[in-house]
Amino acid sequence: VFGQFVHLYEALPSTQTRLLELVQQGAPEGTIVLTNEQTSGRGRLQRAWHGGKNKNIAMSVLVKPNLPLHIAPQLTLLMAVAVADALEAVTDVSCQIKWPNDVHMSTKKVAGILTETISEPDRVIAAIIGIGINVNEPEDAFPEDIRNKATSLVSQTGKEFSRMAVVQHICSSFERLYSAYRVEGFDPIRLLWEARAETIGKRVSVQGVDGVVTGLSTNGSLKVKAENGIEHQVYTTDIGH
Ligand code: BTN
Repeated sequence: VFGQFVHLYEALPSTQTRLLELVQQGAPEGTIVLTNEQTSGRGRLQRAWHGGKNKNIAMSVLVKPNLPLHIAPQLTLLMAVAVADALEAVTDVSCQIKWPNDVHMSTKKVAGILTETISEPDRVIAAIIGIGINVNEPEDAFPEDIRNKATSLVSQTGKEFSRMAVVQHICSSFERLYSAYRVEGFDPIRLLWEARAETIGKRVSVQGVDGVVTGLSTNGSLKVKAENGIEHQVYTTDIGH
């Protein structure tokens, strides 16, 4: 049950690192770490993730899926759908997903997801899914380099939100989707993801492939059709350790 074991901290370097320590002490699936102030938050591709004390959400969720390693990126895509569903339900503002893991409102990033795995040679034993959401921090308080690209729930709606209420929504939408995933596999999630995808039908240049995005493949890679008609599969690079 997601959100049954919640560890809440006033300040932490990173909720990801703290949850990794808890995993090593035997924390069960569904354990969540939250902090009011994250001092060295990690983003994808070795980027830093900006905090915003007492304003935003920094959370990490533990799953123990026992999946083959090559389909582990599906967990990030699943969480992106769960976050988009929850934020849309809470705010009434529509949410899109930018592959693989950015949740957008009005074409600006409102949330990001970073999945880190603990794996045996070919299986994922545990995955720590980290979610950062800009909630009550207005855009003009963001660091200058992200100000034009990022947004927050308060900037989108003019209202402040209870961070706990948002966290609860995410836990319940994640739980619903994760149960479906365990029973039916990735296909239902893939369809939900595609319905929210900002990039489908658009021209992209990603990891050396230029073409038009046609959708997600069954294993969670992005399908990009090049000009010569060849369809490429592009994999996310946020899984690993
Ligand atoms: C990205 O878009 O690059 C992913 C950002 C992920 C940030 C979250 S905040 C909670 C968790 N702890 C971290 O150190 N990072 C993730």
